[in-house]
Amino acid sequence: MLDQAIKTRPVAKLSRGQPTSDGAGVKLNRVIGNQTLGELDPFLLLDEFRSEEGADYIGGFPDHPHRGFETVTYMLAGRMRHGDNKGNAGLLRPGSVQWMTAGRGIVHSEMPEQEEGLMWGFQLWVNLPAKDKMTAPRYQEFQPEEIPLATLPGGVTVRVIAGKVGDVQGPVTGVATDPIYLDVTLPAGGRFSFDLPAGHSAFAYPFEGDALIGEPATAVPRGTLAVLREDGAAVLSAGASAARVLLVAGRPLKEAVVRYGPFVMNSEQQIREAITDYQTGRF
Ligand code: FE2
Repeated sequence: MLDQAIKTRPVAKLSRGQPTSDGAGVKLNRVIGNQTLGELDPFLLLDEFRSEEGADYIGGFPDHPHRGFETVTYMLAGRMRHGDNKGNAGLLRPGSVQWMTAGRGIVHSEMPEQEEGLMWGFQLWVNLPAKDKMTAPRYQEFQPEEIPLATLPGGVTVRVIAGKVGDVQGPVTGVATDPIYLDVTLPAGGRFSFDLPAGHSAFAYPFEGDALIGEPATAVPRGTLAVLREDGAAVLSAGASAARVLLVAGRPLKEAVVRYGPFVMNSEQQIREAITDYQTGRF
């Protein structure tokens, strides 16, 4: 009964995935950064890549730059090798996460380390505040066993990547937008209620099974993203079959966004500088 008194967030908007390709022809489902949902401050883009066909991903993402924001890669299946022009390199395995703060700029590649079999995961772009856009690049990378699991009543489990569920703290720290990034597994009939900071932008994305999102609940099919309204708790539940849902939230920056491909700055002038710096090898 007490639960009834908690303010909950209904769904504000749905974004069906838009099939697209990026990098060297990698097929993607784009759910933020598409025609329905251009951005959800501070989130600039969310792609789900999922294919068992090597031809859909084998080209990977060869050398490309980033400046002014963060990329978050969460692998569900398959292996992706990354390397950048500062000498950073690593292998992302299933269940691992890389939170990369591009800051003033890196040039990197993200390449599948397999030619066949399921390759599945997400890439989220998180904006940086104006004061941090030219910060030094930083990597936070966690292997699957370093991501703690919160086990809740009713058989709900949550991999906590950023934020805190009960007393389980996610490993990602020191990010300007105070993000929450949770991978929530709901058994059939399971329910997860999670209080989000007031004013944080938030979305839920069912990626296995369909889910009921918000209260009052909206049925959201796999592959469609639900934007939640501003204040209160996120409520996720599963119907007759199990579901797995990404729940992500962050503090909006409310600053000008000028975006040109992999450069996201606050003014046209800064974009011109980014292009010049990249072309003259200053990344
Ligand atoms: Fe990238």
